Order: sequence, then C-alpha cells, then structure tokens
Amino acid sequence: MSRPKRLARWAFERVESAFDAVFTPDWNPLYQLGALGWFFYWIVAVSGVYLYIFFDSGVTAAYESVEAITHVQWYAGGVMRSLHRYASDGLVIVMMLHLVREYVMDRLHGPRWFAWVIGVPILWLVFAAGISGYWLVWDKLAHYVALATSEWLDTLPLFGEPIARNFIHPSTLSGRFFTLMLFIHIAVPLILLFIMWVHIHRHTHARVNPPRGLAIGTLAALVVLSVARPAVSQGAADLGTIPTQVGLDWFYLFVYPLLDEYSGLAMWGLLGVATVLLAALPWLPAKRPVPAVVSLANCNGCGRCAVDCPHGAVRMAPRSDGSPYSEEAVVIADLCVACGICVGACPTATPFRRRTALEAGIELPAYPLSDLRERSLAACRALQGNDRVIVYACGQGPDLKAIAGPSVAVVELPCVAMLAPSFIDFMITRRHVDGVFLTGCRANDCYERLGARWTEQRIAGERDPQLRARVPRERVASFWAGVDRGGELAEALSAFRARLGELHASQAPVVATRPGAVGHAG
Ligand code: HEM
Ligand code: SF4
Ligand code: SF4
Repeated sequence: MSRPKRLARWAFERVESAFDAVFTPDWNPLYQLGALGWFFYWIVAVSGVYLYIFFDSGVTAAYESVEAITHVQWYAGGVMRSLHRYASDGLVIVMMLHLVREYVMDRLHGPRWFAWVIGVPILWLVFAAGISGYWLVWDKLAHYVALATSEWLDTLPLFGEPIARNFIHPSTLSGRFFTLMLFIHIAVPLILLFIMWVHIHRHTHARVNPPRGLAIGTLAALVVLSVARPAVSQGAADLGTIPTQVGLDWFYLFVYPLLDEYSGLAMWGLLGVATVLLAALPWLPAKRPVPAVVSLANCNGCGRCAVDCPHGAVRMAPRSDGSPYSEEAVVIADLCVACGICVGACPTATPFRRRTALEAGIELPAYPLSDLRERSLAACRALQGNDRVIVYACGQGPDLKAIAGPSVAVVELPCVAMLAPSFIDFMITRRHVDGVFLTGCRANDCYERLGARWTEQRIAGERDPQLRARVPRERVASFWAGVDRGGELAEALSAFRARLGELHASQAPVVATRPGAVGHAG
C-alpha cells in the first residue's frame, strides 16, 4: 500500500475508532455505509410512493399539489416529503463516503473491480434521480434546474429542437413534459435498484440491511429532522422571469454553479473524463494474487468452502474423478482474491496429519498448509517462558513487528480465517505454545468481509469446522484492531500473556513434554 493511502487509511480508522466509542462497533455507521445506502433507498422509495399518490403532474397543478402535501397534510405528506428529501441526501452522503472508503481501504482491485465499475453508473443514476426530483416541484429552484439542465443538455447534439425553449415562456411548457419528467423520476430509481442488485450480485452474505438499532436510530433522526426542518418549496416558478436567487441542495446540485463559470461542453468533458478515470482505478498496478486450487484427492465435496467464500469464488459441481462423493469444489479463478478463508473452512485442513502429506481439499498455492505448519512450528521453537504465545494475524491491522518478542511469535496470514480451528487445537494441545492469539481487521470491518465473523463463529462452536471442546478456551484470545490501535493490541496481548502465566501457576502438576517446553498434566 502506498504511503499516502496508508496515511489516509490511518486517518479514516481514527475517525472510525471514535465512532466505535459512540456507536459501538456493531452499530458504527461507517462500517455499514453500503447497507445504509440500501436503507436510504427504501425510505426514498416508500415516501416517493406516498407522494406520488397526491402529486398532480399538470403545469400549475404540480406546484399546488406539492404545496398541499407540504402544508395541508403536514403531519403525513409533509413528513413524507421531508423524509424523501433527507433520505435522498443521506443516500448521496453514504454513497460518497462508501466510494472513498472502498478506495482508501484498497477494496477495488482484483475481482472487486466488478463492484467498483458497477458503482460508477450508480453515481450517475443517483444524481439523475435526485435532479429530476427537484424539477417536479415546479418552484423557483425547479425552474432554475430545468433551465440550467436543458441548456446544458442542449450543448450535446442529442435533440433536434433545443429543449431549453420549453422553459422561457408559459405558453411553451406543456403538461406532457411534466408527465415525461415524472416518468423519468420513477424509471431512473427503478433502473438504479436493478444496478444496485447487480453491484452486490457477486458478494455472498452481502450486508444490505443495517443492524436494527442503527436502522431505527437513523429513521428516528430523519423523522425528527423532517418535523423540525420540513422540506419546503421556494415559491412558484414564474416562466416570465429568470430565477436569479435560489437555495441549492448542495448534495445534488453542486455542479450547477460551475455551469455559470464553465461552458456546458467543458463540464460534459470534465465529468466524462472523471467517470472514465474513476472506472479505470481498479486496473492501476496492483499485485494479482494466485487463486486457490482444489485438490480432488482431498476434497470430500462437503461444500463448506463454497459457503464461506466471501467472494462467491467457489461453486460445487458434479464429481469429475469417479470418487464416491457426489460433488467437488471448483474455484472460479477470476473471482478469487486468495484470502484463504476456504482453506480454514475445509475439514481436511488439519495439521495433525503426519502419515500423509499435509494437503487440504483447497489450498493457496502461494501459502500451502504444509508451509503454515512449518512456519508455525519454526516460529515457536525458540519461544521462552510459561506464557508463550503464537499470534496469527492478517496484514491489515497494526504493525506486527512491534508485538513479537522472546515469548511471542507472529505468523501472518492473508486473512485470519485461513487458520482452520484444528491449527489452534494442534498448537495448544501439542504444547507448542501456551496460548493462541488471533488478530485481524477491526470488528465488523474485515478486509475480506467475513473472515473475522467466521473465525469467531468457528471458535464459539457455531460454525463448522468448530474448535474442539478439548481446547481450553482460556488459552485462546482474539483482538480485532485497525491500523491505529497498535497500542491497544499490545495491551490485550500482554493481558493475555499475564493470564497464561497465572494459569501456569495454578495448574499443577506440570509436566515437561520436551526440553524447553511445558505442558499441563491431564
Ligand atoms: C447507492 C449506492 C451504493 C450502494 C447502496 C452500495 C452498496 C454496497 C453494498 C451493500 C456492498 C456490499 C458490502 C458488503 O457486504 O461487504 C457494496 C460493496 C462495494 N461497493 Fe458499493 N454501493 C453503492 C455505490 C458504490 C459506488 C459509487 C462505488 C464506487 C464507485 C461502490 C464500490 C463498491 C465496492 C468496490 C464494493 C466491494 C467491496 C468489497 O468487495 O469488500 N459502491 N456496495
Ligand atoms: S481464497 Fe478466498 S476468494 Fe479464493 S476461493 Fe478461497 S475463500 Fe474464495
Ligand atoms: S471445504 Fe474442502 S472438502 Fe469441502 S468441498 Fe471445499 S475443498 Fe472439498
């Protein structure tokens, strides 16, 4: 990761840690930006349906119907109108933050290009939906938006007749034009919904609903805002006069003041180039990981790898090798990010195997399981004391060099969930260490989306493969931390080691299993 990006990530994570303290990691909105986007979309859709029932698309009737909605039934229609507006603004805010965050966290390369590139038309559609909405109110702002947009569109050779002519005199504007705008304002969000679905189509277990508490809190905040500061119109449009002073919604209309400064064509050019550059970002030089491979000799077709892969890169197919199992795992190489989560899910990924070569049903060629076992054993051989810990960590958290020491070995993995629970069992029950400490990205913000969640569930015995009951749980600890929480990680590790020291003192008799190693009797 480049230095500026690492710095940006550090800054992001500082803010997110502050949010953790206020909202708790489970409800931190910054970890839920995509899901909040969906949530705002649904609020906009429901409030939009309500407004549609009372909206009249005639030239003068449009403004009057919106006024009636706002003031006559302020308690229902007025609140719905405000919810419609504020949720639309919310959608832009979370969408832009989500975009910047995915970029800063480097979640756009490899197979993730798909979600990124599909995100680009989403941007256009969200703005198109919002701008067409402002048009419908037919107040002074709508007049300004209609004039500026149509003049801007007229700079492109799209229409035979300049459409700006519609808005220079009352006699030139027809109700049909309004019906068309209403159609656009409904059709664009429907297309948007479809593209949003495509956007997450490749994500297994995609988070499209924020946690209930966050959803209720967000909705309540929007309702309070809607009552305290209702969305209102800016006076009926008067086609006889050119609107000079209007209040802008900067979330949707920020481009319009620029149209006063630069020509329409220059703005199209600027936005076109920005769009192409944005869409091309995933192809900036980045290391392409070697995808996972299946070893049919070791695959029993259980399907756990397919269920746990966060990127939908494993599918189950009919057996091709004549074995009695009905299915086999197949890796879709183009979708694989080489996170290794499938390896941790595979029941054959067990380090206890000694008689046959250690090879799992699914493996990362760049980091085979046999290497992981050798690395783990080599790292622990020289450890001293009665609080010897092996830390399994992903490279997305704090600096790991700072925590290694005479009684702490660190083994880095692409994702912590690559570690099958049997490895924890192996390291502890074979007394290679006194404890196993797992650390990775922050809670609810795993770089590989689901690694931390699957790991916790496997240890808690809620997900296969489970950590066996014989492994003393007090000898296993985890700490999920972002790059900014190195100090807290070191503290959590020290506390864990102190606990191991106490355990050692309290557990008698203690037997030595090999020189320099201590084990627990029984
Ligand atoms: C209406 C706007 C948007 C919504 C509602 C939305 C929603 C989502 C959701 C729900 C996910 C899956 C999150 C997860 O479960 O891990 C996601 C992933 C993603 N989004 Fe968006 N998104 C929007 C716009 C954008 C835009 C504009 C971009 C960038 C141009 C973008 C880039 C990405 C990327 C790269 C991922 C994949 C992240 C990963 O693989 O970890 N999104 N989005
Ligand atoms: S390495 Fe990761 S992305 Fe590739 S198949 Fe395994 S779980 Fe899926
Ligand atoms: S988890 Fe392992 S054994 Fe099960 S289907 Fe996948 S590769 Fe085969």
